[in-house]
Amino acid sequence: MLIGPEDIQKVPNMFMNAVHEDEIEIINRLYEALKKGDLQEADRLMDELLIDLEDHFSTEEELMREADFFGYPMHKAEHDNMRREFKAVYDSWKDTKDPSAVMRFLEEKMVPWLKLLVAQWDSVTAQHLGD
Ligand SMILES: [Fe+2]
Repeated sequence: MLIGPEDIQKVPNMFMNAVHEDEIEIINRLYEALKKGDLQEADRLMDELLIDLEDHFSTEEELMREADFFGYPMHKAEHDNMRREFKAVYDSWKDTKDPSAVMRFLEEKMVPWLKLLVAQWDSVTAQHLGD
């Protein structure tokens, strides 16, 4: 398991917590498939993660806009960076099917980024939104 549910801070909004838990599960399943060299399953999970990330980010952005959250531009800029970075990894996966490149990205970029984002931005956003 690359990331445990306890590695991601809980925020005061149950919906956001549920979205994060689902995402952690997809990331772990993807990591396991890559580790086993199950390319077909990994490919399916890469597609799932691309859709899941977009759902996660766009739902939060909509909530922030509706609630007139002051941190919207900064929080959205973080999302946009990860959208770009993950899309680049996704595209090169589709070309090369190289598990080690994706594993490295998950270990070194996505998981640390997600922990930090939730601690820095999602927690403040959730406080503003309430439950
Ligand atoms: Fe989030």
